[in-house]
Amino acid sequence: LDPEQIGEDGLVAFFSSFQCSKNSDVENFLKNKSILFEKSHNSRTYLIINTDTNGLLGYFSLTFKELHVNAISKSQAKKFDGISKSATNFRSYLIGQLGKNSAILDNPLTLNAILQFAYSYIQKAWDVIGGRTVLIECENNQQLLSLYQNENFSVIQQDGSLVQLFTLLSFDSI
Ligand SMILES: CC(C)(COP(=O)(O)OP(=O)(O)OC[C@H]1O[C@@H](n2cnc3c(N)ncnc32)[C@H](O)[C@@H]1OP(=O)(O)O)[C@@H](O)C(=O)NCCC(=O)NCCS
Repeated sequence: LDPEQIGEDGLVAFFSSFQCSKNSDVENFLKNKSILFEKSHNSRTYLIINTDTNGLLGYFSLTFKELHVNAISKSQAKKFDGISKSATNFRSYLIGQLGKNSAILDNPLTLNAILQFAYSYIQKAWDVIGGRTVLIECENNQQLLSLYQNENFSVIQQDGSLVQLFTLLSFDSI
């Protein structure tokens, strides 16, 4: 699958094979928004493809966001800001969407694998502009939150119906 060759209609057709039974926003974003967001440079969407079968296993989208935190401990503020223990605004990489294709039987993709791909791209941006944190906004679902907590994300706060979680990047210690 060559993104230069496939064209917009080809991509739309390719995306029609993607289903996300647990989260309709994730399915809807890929099918109805990702191309517009790409063209308008509001985010970048990365497809995870099985090169043997050309199956679309999953995807994630990256962008950035400044998070305003209402209440945070001084030690957490210092950790996420890097300098100030009274910081309340945190510029962050945002994994805006992520999910695996539930239409693929025994899809081998996991959250950990998606995050490893995402970090490999975030690291390229980090080399150029720095940054300390990655933000994820997800539904208030205990299973989903546990999955992120197992990947070193900490719950920061609830924003409307979404829970915001942070993790600290550690490329400099790699
Ligand atoms: C998030 C995801 C990539 C993790 O994949 P994984 O590491 O292979 O983990 P699993 O898919 O086995 O999920 C683990 C558990 O969390 C549950 N879970 C995952 N996403 C969920 C969601 N959006 N709502 C409710 N439960 C969810 C699963 O049902 C599963 O529960 P089970 O063990 O009782 O079956 C995948 O579950 C997914 O694509 N979920 C839907 C999309 C999504 O919610 N993305 C997050 C947007 S912030």
